[in-house]
Parts: sequence; structure tokens; C-alpha cells
Amino acid sequence: MREHVLLIGGGGREHAIARALEDSEADLYACAGNRNPGIARIATEFETLETTNPKAVVEYAEDVDATIAVIGPEAPLEAGVADELEAAGVYPFGPKEADARIETDKAFQRRFMEEHDIPGCPDFETFDDMEAACDFIDDYDGDLVIKPAGLTGGKGVKVIGDQVTPEEGKAYIRESDYDRIVLEERLIGEEITIQALVANGGFETAPAVQDHKRAYEGDEGPNTGGMGSYSDVTNELPFMTEADYEEGVSIIEATVDALDDYRGILYGQFMLTSEGPKVIEFNARFGDPEAMNTLPVLETDFLDVLTAARDGEAPPELEFAEQATVCKYAVPEGYPTDPEAGAKVQVDEESAGDALLYYASVDERDDGIYTTTSRSFAVVGLAESITDAEEIAEDALAVAGDEGLHMRHDIGKPDLVQQRIDHMNELRGE
Ligand code: AMP
Ligand code: GLY
Repeated sequence: MREHVLLIGGGGREHAIARALEDSEADLYACAGNRNPGIARIATEFETLETTNPKAVVEYAEDVDATIAVIGPEAPLEAGVADELEAAGVYPFGPKEADARIETDKAFQRRFMEEHDIPGCPDFETFDDMEAACDFIDDYDGDLVIKPAGLTGGKGVKVIGDQVTPEEGKAYIRESDYDRIVLEERLIGEEITIQALVANGGFETAPAVQDHKRAYEGDEGPNTGGMGSYSDVTNELPFMTEADYEEGVSIIEATVDALDDYRGILYGQFMLTSEGPKVIEFNARFGDPEAMNTLPVLETDFLDVLTAARDGEAPPELEFAEQATVCKYAVPEGYPTDPEAGAKVQVDEESAGDALLYYASVDERDDGIYTTTSRSFAVVGLAESITDAEEIAEDALAVAGDEGLHMRHDIGKPDLVQQRIDHMNELRGE
């Protein structure tokens, strides 16, 4: 019987998942809160529904006779969509609510690492008394990072000594009404992402990716969900050694072993410090944008990963094309603080040329596609080098123009990549 795969979520990451299944021997059904025109074109059927409502998702899964479900974003995982799908007899590729706490509860995540002696855990303390947290900041020797324990779309973290002073950090804690926060050691280095596909005790990792969280060029401005990312032709990035990658993988391995029967994606975000990789956070899903670097170079049929997981096997060995990738998001002007929606998107999958185009939060109207207040679309270049891939991505952005849009042109450019290399050399005293 042909598999019926249900894809949950309507962002750029899910458009990339849809593409990864486009040529597979499966019928794709999709549901999301927004109608993603890219996914809608690929899927047999697209349903708009509230993906954090497990009942609504299960009902749709049953309607379309889904055999496997892929859960893209974290919010449905936190809402227990995987648990409910499984109870209804639909295999969910994505962790249950309790396992997704590795992402959805940063205090749990840090304690989990500590309890299981997982390497790469920074010093941390968790607080539910905000005044005690402020006292801790006063007494701590060094810079701390303030992290709300719950999900904030990557926008709740404040780094003392970088984004805020200790006084501003304390004011932030007092003004926000978080129930629980984590204070942890500020790590210095270069950020890298290693994503693993996990099932039945086994796992397979993808090449490292570097995301760019800050809104403006030169890593200035507020944190965002991610403005763009790049990967190289090997597993490593230009400022990493093979040993750095392997050390990241061994942290993932220790985490997979400690998690009992985790399934889905385990996304490790690391700070590569002078002492090797340390864990910034884990996510329970593909990164967005990182999925758009990883899935286009995945040569193994993604459906084989899903069916192996469902059939009780470890994931098959993954093959990746030896190509560099550069992904750049176009976001509405003013994003993330004062985004202005309503600009018409001037580029589509055809006019993007050699680049791949992934839709994210856009609004499809009769006369075209318009921006909303979140990230709008991403373009991805694939080539023999990061520099060539960057140029392909830029050519597509040139078609899009900049009316009502903002993008970071510096991502993947030789200057910025060289700065990363120089930074790591400096930290390693080379
Ligand atoms: P998160 O929401 O955990 O991904 O954090 C958002 C951003 O805050 C990360 O991409 C890092 O740039 C920064 N960050 C988080 N934790 C730390 C840390 N311990 N040291 C330095 N920077 C951090
Ligand atoms: N790119 C960061 C994330 O997906 O959380």
C-alpha cells in the first residue's frame, strides 16, 4: 500500500520537508494554521487547521488515512500531537510531549544533561524566584545568559555582556512575568547546529550548519527565529575541525542514549568554544532555516527514514550530496520588533532561477502572494562552494527586490565566513 504521509506545519522548514517527500512513493497530505502555497502545490490535499489542537490533527489524519505523520514545528509537539496521533494508530515521526521537553522546557533540559552526565553542559542555575535570580546575577563572577524556561520562538534569551548590561538584565527579569528562568554561563565561540534523525535507539547526523539569529547585518539587532544559514561540502564548517564535529556528535549520542526511545529529530545547537562544543540548546525538530540547508542535499529518500522508524528500525545510513548551501530569509520590513505586513512577493519558484524558494508565513490572495508579520520566504543556493552558493541565493533575492522586505546580504559572503575563521583562530590562540 502507498504510504499516506501527513505533514504538520506551514513554514519554510515544512516546505523543505514537503520537497524532500515530493518524489517519494507516498501521497502527501498537509495541514497548518496558514496556507503555505509551496506546500499546497506539492501536497495531494492541504487543510487549514489549528495544529496545536491534537483532536483537529487526529481527525484530519483519520480523514486522509494517514499512515505516518511528520511534525514540523515545536508547538504541536508541546501540545501532545504526537501522543494523540500514536493513540489513534498513526505513526508520528516526532517526540511525545514528555520527550519534547528537551526543547520546550529549558530548565528540564539543563537538569537532564546534569543528571545524565551529558558532556558539554554549561554552568547553570534554575529559578522560580525572580529576586533570587537578580541576586545571583549580582554575586556571579562573569557574564550570564538569561533564558525563560518555556518556548519564546528564540526571542526571549538575553545575553549579559553582549545584548544587555547586568542592570538591564535584572530589569528585564523584573519586567517580564516569566514563572521560571535559567541563568547560565555565557559561552564564547561560534554557533553551530548538528541535526540528528533518531529512531529506535539509533541516529544519523547531517552536516553542520551555522544559523544567523541576529536581525541585522554584522550580527547586530534583536534575536530572530533565524535570518539565514550555510553549510559546506563536508560535515564541517570552514572554522571547524573534524574532531569538533565528532565531539558534537558524541554529545548527541549521549543524549539519545539518555532519552528513552526518543524519535524524530534531535537538533543540537552548540557553541564551539576554545574547549570544544558546548550545548546552547536542544530542539525536538528540524531547525528553521537549517532544514533548508540539510534536506536539499539529502540523497537518501526521506520516506525511507520515516518507514524505518515506523517499522522499528534504526534510521538508514544517510547520504548527502557534497554541495555547499546558503539559505537567506526575506522578512517583512521592521521584523521582528515592528513588522509591516502586506508587501507583494515579487519572486516565485520559477523566477528564483537556480535557487530553491521556500515559502514561510505568507498570505496567498487572488492576485498574488503577500507578506505577513513573520519570516516571509527563503532562497537557497546549492553549489561547489559556499561563495558560489551565496551568489545563487543573492541572484534570487535580486529578483525579489527589497520593497517591504529585509534580508541579511552578509550571510555566507566570504568576508563574514572569514570573520568566523579568524574568531575561532583567535579563541584557540592560533
Ligand atoms: P536559544 O533560544 O537558546 O537558541 O538562544 C538564543 C541565542 O542566545 C543563541 O542563538 C545564542 O546566540 C544565545 N545564547 C543562548 N545561550 C547562550 C550561552 N550559554 N552563551 C552565549 N550565548 C547564548
Ligand atoms: N534556527 C533556529 C531554530 O530553528 O530554532
